[in-house]
Amino acid sequence: MLKIIGESCIKVVRFNMQRTDTRSYAALAVISTEAFAEIDANCATILHKVELDCYKGLRCNSRRTSYLLGRYAAKLALESLSGDSVSREVAVLPGIFGQPIVRGLTGLSVSISHTETLACAIAFPEEHLMAIDTENLSANKTSLMAEELTEAERKLGPELIQKVNLHACIWTAKEALSKILRTGMMTPFSLYAVETLDQDTDKNPIVELESCERLKGQYLHFSQYRFQTWIRDDSIITIALPRRTILSC
Ligand SMILES: CC(C)(COP(=O)(O)OP(=O)(O)OC[C@H]1O[C@@H](n2cnc3c(N)ncnc32)[C@H](O)[C@@H]1OP(=O)(O)O)[C@@H](O)C(=O)NCCC(=O)NCCS
Repeated sequence: MLKIIGESCIKVVRFNMQRTDTRSYAALAVISTEAFAEIDANCATILHKVELDCYKGLRCNSRRTSYLLGRYAAKLALESLSGDSVSREVAVLPGIFGQPIVRGLTGLSVSISHTETLACAIAFPEEHLMAIDTENLSANKTSLMAEELTEAERKLGPELIQKVNLHACIWTAKEALSKILRTGMMTPFSLYAVETLDQDTDKNPIVELESCERLKGQYLHFSQYRFQTWIRDDSIITIALPRRTILSC
């Protein structure tokens, strides 16, 4: 097993994805940046040779942290999903637009996101497109997020939820969709517009994030996708997924 650090810094959960006539699985890993030193000390046992060379070549501390924790989260999620040990032969390499490509495991994909305080990744079957995005709910960032909202998006959301969380939810929903589409945010934001946003009262499949405030919504121009959002403390995590897929434990 790849897991080398304490339970408080790391969460890994595997969950069901039910569709009309099929069921598959995905896995989520969330790692606190507090675990960086311990993971860094073990980096040679976690990273593939190509990843290790890339990691050693990074000069910026924040990028070193995000790279290592993002790769580690991806591999923990892959390990949880595949049910087998993920060896150093497995690599998560960047595609030409920066999108993560899994090498050394057939049929699985990952999506990665990181902030100053955490890194997270989801692993999923490559035929079932998904993506993840996370942000810190700091005042600076959320005011920037608010500026990018469309007029219609400003009117969305249940009354009880703080506006700042709504803005971050819509932002992360757009970033997650841009990762599914592989375009990133190089495309006008309005294309990813959110059409509906509601409190999520469905059974929470991600038990480790149980105490969170939860939201869900759909996109204006991409009706084949929807998103689910978890907000806890100063972090927000959004997963974009096919609209008709139901997540459960
Ligand atoms: C993709 C993007 C939205 C990520 O958002 P972010 O807030 O900067 O960063 P996050 O921490 O949430 O996500 C970063 C992860 O997204 C993934 N990612 C990067 N580009 C991606 C893409 N085009 N599609 C899907 N996933 C992508 C990577 O796994 C990356 O982590 P890693 O570099 O450690 O592997 C943003 O980087 C972007 O818009 N990129 C555009 C890239 C592009 O098109 N470049 C080519 C022209 S120069």
